[in-house]
Amino acid sequence: MKKIRKAVFPVAGLGSRFLPATKAQPKEMLPIVDKPLIQYAVEEAVAAGITEMIFITGRNKRAIEDHFDKAYELESELEEAGKQKLLEQVRNVIPKHISCIYIRQSEPLGLGHAVLCARPVIGDEPFAVILADDFMDVSGQTLPVLRQMSDVYEYEGCSLLAVHDVPRANTKQYGIVSAHSYRPQLELVDGIVEKPQPEDAPSTLAVVGRYVLSPKIFEFLEGLGTGAGGEIQLTDGIAALMKAERVLAYRYDGIRYDCGSKIGYLKAMVAMGLKHPETANEFRQYLSDLQQGRNGED
Ligand code: UTP
Repeated sequence: MKKIRKAVFPVAGLGSRFLPATKAQPKEMLPIVDKPLIQYAVEEAVAAGITEMIFITGRNKRAIEDHFDKAYELESELEEAGKQKLLEQVRNVIPKHISCIYIRQSEPLGLGHAVLCARPVIGDEPFAVILADDFMDVSGQTLPVLRQMSDVYEYEGCSLLAVHDVPRANTKQYGIVSAHSYRPQLELVDGIVEKPQPEDAPSTLAVVGRYVLSPKIFEFLEGLGTGAGGEIQLTDGIAALMKAERVLAYRYDGIRYDCGSKIGYLKAMVAMGLKHPETANEFRQYLSDLQQGRNGED
């Protein structure tokens, strides 16, 4: 079976839910404590054994390329100032054996279209898709979510969608699958629809931003017209793929924060602020002060 070596990061969306912060910078560069969302996403891919990172970029996305590139001036200034720890952090944003490829999506025609832009570099291999604004937190010994999925891929060898149960009122924010149980944490997908109204949703099992896809998806994406919201939808490509090949839904272990939304972003920041070694203690104290009605001002 072919190994998953490549991951696609669609980062060409407009990020309109996060304006004005996303006016001149991509939402994937928003930091959770001290690291941008896209760096967490790349680290998750590296932990899953992926070595080729393919970014589908658009306008205003230069900051992502710069983030994963060498920063000569910054590095020499840190070196002169003897700030070794910071220097190491800046140098090790991405491990040396990883290559980054940037493809421009000239118009934000939808997630399905963004994934299709990666076809020339993916070729005939299975690949992962990571939406960096879906931030995944795992605790303790739990493996990163994409690593969980690449482990499942090793023995199932088919397309996988990360899913979790959402309140029925929220189905219109997600792709929703209909599926029947197959194995622990795995369901066989027999239907998928994009953003259904609660009363029309076939289930409450929502797809979140981690996928392992068979290259056959490209054949279906190519023939697609616009779907929900006037965009070329990955969901519609998966609906067609599912008729030709097995597609499984995987109930991942972990907590997902929708960092494309303000509230999800705030929750992720709190969760990670309480874990980060430099902030955890003081931040916990601050939150407890707030709860007790003190303002916690420095
Ligand atoms: P979203 O639905 O979150 O859209 O896209 P968005 O435009 O980024 O954000 P809002 O809704 O306007 O606030 C899901 C993912 O697909 C990417 C986005 O960057 C995001 O990671 N995407 C979406 C593209 O790369 N290209 C597109 O044409 C559309």
